Amino acid sequence: MIGPMSSGPFQIVFAGPFDVAPVERMRQAGKVTLLDPVDTPALMSAVQSCDALLARSHVQVTRGVLEHAPKLRVIGRAGVGLENIDLAVAKERGVTVVYTPCAATEAVADLTVGMIIALVRNLTVMDRLVRSSRFQEAREAALGCELHELTLGIVGMGRIGRALARRCSLGFGMKVIYNDIVDVGPLDFPAQAVEKRVLYQEADVVSVHVPLTDDTRQMIDAQALSCFKAGSLLINTARGAVVDCDALADALAGRRLAGAALDVFDPEPLPSAHPLLSAPNTVFTPHIGARTVGGQARMNAVVDDVIRVLRGEPSRYAAW
Ligand code: MLT
Repeated sequence: MIGPMSSGPFQIVFAGPFDVAPVERMRQAGKVTLLDPVDTPALMSAVQSCDALLARSHVQVTRGVLEHAPKLRVIGRAGVGLENIDLAVAKERGVTVVYTPCAATEAVADLTVGMIIALVRNLTVMDRLVRSSRFQEAREAALGCELHELTLGIVGMGRIGRALARRCSLGFGMKVIYNDIVDVGPLDFPAQAVEKRVLYQEADVVSVHVPLTDDTRQMIDAQALSCFKAGSLLINTARGAVVDCDALADALAGRRLAGAALDVFDPEPLPSAHPLLSAPNTVFTPHIGARTVGGQARMNAVVDDVIRVLRGEPSRYAAW
């Protein structure tokens, strides 16, 4: 049981997809409505009487949505990114926003390491050649690199950037350079802070770990890509709109970049004819950075904070 609420039963909307466990937990607090994450008219209608809204990354909680939600007390964002919620309007309307800033740190860092290795050892190319009975051709394909020979450039040294840096520096012996808009303080692994321009010029692998904000939208555009070291690799497990996907497709087609691995796209999903989807030496996953058993469980725990807010208790992870 979840104990007494400040009033109730509550109207709770899940703008999915969500696992069964958090939904069942919230059913103890009131009436639950499950919505398709991109069905905006249904969302507009459901929020009119709702006390709590649980949202995943593809749900746009705009001013319009918030203005249709006179009773809304709390938004629970299962994830770290808050760019899909109009935080200013939520704050203005007294709606508490809770999220799970630490849920996906290790999962995303692991995925990023996997992507780096997949690119430097041509894993997807090898896989396709072996499956199409071109075994010898695969053995004669371009040689891979060893990670300790490479410089990793991390843009955004927050939780995920640091988890990646720790793995790559201490685990694989990579040289790590990074750029962040704030002084990230002492680090427990070797890494050197540099200007973004220097990072682009020196890194063999650039990995992006920034939130999506007005300042980071399209941060890696044609101009930035033109500064990248020739033959370098780009990894994006942060937010699709941080990278200009058209410019990246051009940079890959022109072989300025030797490869890219993306878990996130702009838009999501990319249209099937988008040139990035046929660009050479690329590895793509469908925004599953957080999708591990542990990552999912930690994201589901957002309901605990939603319940705290409904009970009138302090939340653990509020957006402000
Ligand atoms: C996040 O913000 O942590 C992810 O985008 C979570 C998700 O997959 O929805």
